[in-house]
Amino acid sequence: MLIEFTLNYQPIAIEAPPDVTLLHLLRDHLNLTGAKEGCSVGECGACSVIMDGRLVNSCLVLAPQAHGSEIITIEGIHAPDGGPNDLQENFITYGAVQCGICIPGMVVAGEALLMRTLTPTRTEIRTALAGNLCRCTGYQQIVDAIEATAVQRRQAS
Ligand code: FES
Ligand code: FES
Repeated sequence: MLIEFTLNYQPIAIEAPPDVTLLHLLRDHLNLTGAKEGCSVGECGACSVIMDGRLVNSCLVLAPQAHGSEIITIEGIHAPDGGPNDLQENFITYGAVQCGICIPGMVVAGEALLMRTLTPTRTEIRTALAGNLCRCTGYQQIVDAIEATAVQRRQAS
């Protein structure tokens, strides 16, 4: 079936089987491999994308459900020159990246939160990350990076 949606700010139309997940549409049909396949059952957040402004697990979304929507993946999150944006720089600065497998989902979850508010409390940041598992960092540095980005964006706005 033909699925038309906006992907990383660009309109797209693609033929795909109706039973393929959004995660596999992205990875296998569109070669966007930033969203990772961890658990495949909605428990790890490695496959996180932003769909119509909401954080979703793309392993739980069927591709046809994306029809007419606006999807942002980790590939759509970057500085104007294509390099790391402020949030991604802060992940580096605060030592929030270790093995990296969870990081695309963490950055996407962070951006989804910062789209909603630039004044999140640390509890709100932790809640926003509740569906994203990290086996390495202990989360503290990830929360620090998101909090610092919120402060910087507030000061810049
Ligand atoms: S792969 Fe989707 S939540 Fe784990
Ligand atoms: S950095 Fe390894 S799982 Fe998060």
